[in-house]
Amino acid sequence: MLKIPVIVGSVRRGRQSAKVARFASDRLEKAGVAAPLLDLAEIGLPVMEERLSKRDDPPPGLVEFARAVAEADAVVVVSPEYNGSVPGALKNALDYLYAEWDRKPVGILTVSTGGFGGVNVQNQLQLLFLKIKALPVAAMPVSHVSRSFGEDGEPREDHYEASFARVVETLSWYAGAVGAAKRAGAAKATGAAGPAGTA
Ligand SMILES: Cc1cc2nc3c(=O)[nH]c(=O)nc-3n(C[C@H](O)[C@H](O)[C@H](O)COP(=O)(O)O)c2cc1C
Repeated sequence: MLKIPVIVGSVRRGRQSAKVARFASDRLEKAGVAAPLLDLAEIGLPVMEERLSKRDDPPPGLVEFARAVAEADAVVVVSPEYNGSVPGALKNALDYLYAEWDRKPVGILTVSTGGFGGVNVQNQLQLLFLKIKALPVAAMPVSHVSRSFGEDGEPREDHYEASFARVVETLSWYAGAVGAAKRAGAAKATGAAGPAGTA
């Protein structure tokens, strides 16, 4: 079973993005994917003083967050757009990690109460993920989130079902391809080393 956790990138009081995250997790689970929510409001990471790899005193929740990203076959990130950019809490969480994102397929769901669905933050997150060697291969902007999604996490506009189904299909394809390549690379490395004791 594929593992595709969903990062809830808003910690704002009264946040709307959580509705979209619940929708994403639900539809992934219905597609047979393990899709737990990684809720930054629950994890409560402090402002980053140093990356996890250089910390011997990681704050509570960080090791589990890092492990969930590292072990994932792909990740969905749900992010609002704040002032045309990435919310501080999400940027902070992303900056803690690095190697965990290596070659990780990422689906970016951006959220706005306005009509442009957070396209600015979508572009910025795509660049950010490329910088940390992740693969931002799928995206879905959500406009007018106050009315386009209900509190129950159900979309009130039909097109989001088809859009997110494409995100799931794309992420699953890349997760399979990257997983197969990693396994082949590991097998080749083991074979190249040869049996113990040989030259
Ligand atoms: C600090 C702040 C900045 C915002 N800047 C933008 C923006 O640049 N573009 C936009 O479309 N919406 C902007 N909004 C409105 C958000 O789209 C809206 O608040 C949305 O609900 C944010 O997601 P959240 O509820 O999960 O925090 C901003 C909201 C806040 C709180």
